[in-house]
Amino acid sequence: MTGRAGGVAGRNDRKEVVMDTMQVITTRKTCRAFTDEPVTKDQIRTILEAANASPIAMHDFEAVQLSVIVDRKAIDAIDALAGANGGRMGTGPTYRAPVLILVSGSEDGMERGTNYCNAGCIIENMQLAATELGLGSGYILGVIKSLQQHPEMFAALGVDEGFVPVSAMTLGHPADADLLAGPREATTENIITHFVE
Ligand SMILES: Cc1cc2nc3c(=O)[nH]c(=O)nc-3n(C[C@H](O)[C@H](O)[C@H](O)COP(=O)(O)O)c2cc1C
Repeated sequence: MTGRAGGVAGRNDRKEVVMDTMQVITTRKTCRAFTDEPVTKDQIRTILEAANASPIAMHDFEAVQLSVIVDRKAIDAIDALAGANGGRMGTGPTYRAPVLILVSGSEDGMERGTNYCNAGCIIENMQLAATELGLGSGYILGVIKSLQQHPEMFAALGVDEGFVPVSAMTLGHPADADLLAGPREATTENIITHFVE
């Protein structure tokens, strides 16, 4: 985003950045069809930097973990658990994305709900960073319930003991080149808002 450190270019893809903050926010859209083009390590690094800049309850970064999954078989295995009902495009809930990032929270945080709140912040930060890089992304809760019922899969997915996957995000190059071509119209109409004055 411009305005970051006076518009100084970052060490990777960010040097081509032209969007300001509201433009990134209004350009982000859920991507549900991806090409097979892989996401580069530099792009993943930028996405992870965005995740690591997220607000986290009590600044307790030890309560959250990420798994960056690029193993096709592992993504397909998660997809298969949820079944076709989880997806809208006939492709399953992860839409054959080349990357799936799991956000896991510590078991302690499940009751208070902080895990889900943390995950929401992390995923939005990652989606905005992806948008700025021209990458498609999507918040995918549709795989989480079924995955939580299979703790025997956690270790192979990089989910440590004592942690539970609470949200997921797809990442890849959008099949529709126009998806992120421009911002949507800014509005205050989508969410009913009560002013208490
Ligand atoms: C908590 C949460 C869970 C979501 N889970 C799914 C999901 O499982 N599958 C899916 O296709 N989209 C999912 N979405 C994406 C929403 O459907 C999408 O954000 C919404 O339709 C608005 O579209 P937009 O993201 O293009 O603005 C989820 C979004 C949020 C915030």
